[in-house]
Amino acid sequence: MPAALIDGKAFAAKLREQVGAAAAGFAAAAGRRPGLAVVLVGEDAASQVYVGAKHRATIAAGMESFEHRLPAATGEGELLALIAQLNADERVDGILVQLPLPAGLDEQAVIAAISPDKDVDGFHVINAGRLAVGQDGFVPCTPLGCMMLLQDRLGDLAGLEAVVVGRSNIVGKPMAQLLLAANATVTIAHSRTRDLPEVVRRADIVVAAVGRPEMIRGDWIKPGATVIDVGINRLPPAAGADKGRLVGDVEIAGAMTVAGAITPVPGGVGPMTIAVLLRNTLIAAHRNAGLPAPASL
Ligand code: GUN
Repeated sequence: MPAALIDGKAFAAKLREQVGAAAAGFAAAAGRRPGLAVVLVGEDAASQVYVGAKHRATIAAGMESFEHRLPAATGEGELLALIAQLNADERVDGILVQLPLPAGLDEQAVIAAISPDKDVDGFHVINAGRLAVGQDGFVPCTPLGCMMLLQDRLGDLAGLEAVVVGRSNIVGKPMAQLLLAANATVTIAHSRTRDLPEVVRRADIVVAAVGRPEMIRGDWIKPGATVIDVGINRLPPAAGADKGRLVGDVEIAGAMTVAGAITPVPGGVGPMTIAVLLRNTLIAAHRNAGLPAPASL
């Protein structure tokens, strides 16, 4: 039997609807809407698309969107001053600085300037630390979205073998922390891992976040495993086409014949990221207003 497809698009739509309903409840209780500020520096084409999508989704969820588009030549002092202004603005519950930043701007310094209580991306070291020690904080949107899909599919993850391929601060490391907190047995594999196929073959759960098209082959997957593919890679265009196909980090045709369930690309993990960003912003709004956060989210 081919693997079940995990419908991240439908799950994300449901989550956005729940967040929208809770945002209306927040507005009634607090007398203002939850607010998200997004800062984009420079002209990166993919970032412009993401920022536009975040803006529309924020409005659609009944939240206030504050968009700041700055020229690529913006100095670090100017960017830090904007962040300080957003930290102090009571209408702003969440702040997201779109990455990557243009060369010359220090990403770590910029992230460090965001108030940890408005850091809805979960990138600040305080939030990374909170996640590592099991305190409440903000968790990066993509791995949290992956976790929601896994728990929806598998329920309790205790004792399962999970292999995370990729060790970025944005996906791999927080993903491993979340799986560990859910009592999975976690391995983080990466470019220096010896015999990666054998390591992946142990996994009941595979999370692929390496950014290399179809690197994880179908015959590496353990029969029945649940596969979460975080990769979105565009292949070179075929002859005569102007755009190449989008593929994940997993060779899906092969994996489909052995896995129990798998996220498609597109339509799997991708749609979850913005839905979780809205969820994190809603939670931030409740905390900032001293209201109890809705338990179901
Ligand atoms: N660039 C790519 N993904 C993300 C994300 O989740 N947050 C931010 N801030 N920048 C990104």
